[in-house]
Amino acid sequence: MTSSQGFVCRVCSARASTFLSFGPMPLANGFLSAADFHGEFRFELSVGFCPACCMVQLGEQPRRDQMFGPNYPYYSSTSSSMSEHFARFAATILDELPTSERSLIVELGSNDGIMLRHLTRPGVTAVGIDPSTSVAQRARDQGLNIVVSFFDADVAARIAEEYGSADVIVGANVMCHIADPHEVLRGVRRLLKPGAVFVFEDPYLGDVVHRVSYDQIYDEHVFLFAATSIANLARLHDMELVDVAPQSVHGGSMRFTLARLGERQVSDRVGLLLQQERVGGLCNFETFEELRRSIEKSRDDLRALLGGLRAKGKRIVGYGATSKSTTVTNYCGITPDLVEYLSDTTPAKQGKFSPGAHIPVRPYREFVTRYPDYALLFAWNHATEILTKETEFRKSGGRWIVYVPSVALLADL
Ligand code: TMP
Ligand code: ZN
Repeated sequence: MTSSQGFVCRVCSARASTFLSFGPMPLANGFLSAADFHGEFRFELSVGFCPACCMVQLGEQPRRDQMFGPNYPYYSSTSSSMSEHFARFAATILDELPTSERSLIVELGSNDGIMLRHLTRPGVTAVGIDPSTSVAQRARDQGLNIVVSFFDADVAARIAEEYGSADVIVGANVMCHIADPHEVLRGVRRLLKPGAVFVFEDPYLGDVVHRVSYDQIYDEHVFLFAATSIANLARLHDMELVDVAPQSVHGGSMRFTLARLGERQVSDRVGLLLQQERVGGLCNFETFEELRRSIEKSRDDLRALLGGLRAKGKRIVGYGATSKSTTVTNYCGITPDLVEYLSDTTPAKQGKFSPGAHIPVRPYREFVTRYPDYALLFAWNHATEILTKETEFRKSGGRWIVYVPSVALLADL
């Protein structure tokens, strides 16, 4: 599908132009044992922009069953602020349901049930769909109703047959993972009741551009959405973007609401955001060329900072073995010589090595037991939660290194 300059847009089939190639990359969540280093999977990670529909997308994406297999190690419920966010998201959804009738809510990509467990109320049936048995089992253990599958029009038809049509379909950090959005929207149209909505949120392109958060670019994120590109995609399915709501999670996300054409009133927020994206150049190739230059500078600055600190004998530990960190470590050439280990609270990642760069992942207690001189904040999207929790590290003389929006040592709070 890719060439050095471009590839076919997954949304509108026009020619998309590549603006950045990262080279061969492993799977962002492909944490592995030393025995598996040899023959580790890699693919060419590049990202491009379609001038016809404005969708920013990967040139190539690994097969979905390679990324979201039975041992998928990303459990959504590892952060308290994310749990609070999803409790609020669920409350918003429930508030908008008619109270009198029986209702059906379907969640795409329900992971370990972080949102689905809040989507319960007498008279409401909530069904989650997730292809990864590891996380789906965690949700089932809580008594949640999970279909283990990728979502497509056939699965939508099966759910409709068993439960009837949906009052609302929701998804968080799932739409941007799916290479064939047309299949999803066909399924969504099939499953939604008349007048019902599809609400989903994903990292927002505007935030990636403004914060140079290039670590949002990895195998699972085949798309970086903006209102403009989502409105264009919806139109191809006789649907429309009826609302948008910015979210602070995942370093800046956008919640999009779609409905069948003409079935819902379009909020003024949609027109305002489309206008803001036009003015901000989110549909201009030059914006992405400039982003590439900023990303290259970020890489050079981070390498120089880490290399300089190591030359002075300082210990540096990575905080959070995030999916995003796989892009940063591999693109910036961060090996265990620079970063001693990655501290992470997820048991499924501990004792393994990070994809590609092979930095050991160790339990959080190691970090607390022997603070390093510097902590590289890979989980920067959880900064507020983490910095609040880690005051002792700072008090003991430890310093935080951040790279979003630019490479820096965090000033004292
Ligand atoms: P995310 O950025 O994709 O949400 O991933 C966060 C990762 O960071 C996940 O593996 C859990 C880990 N983590 C910690 O180790 N400590 C923390 O305090 C938080 C918030 C996350
Ligand atoms: Zn396109």
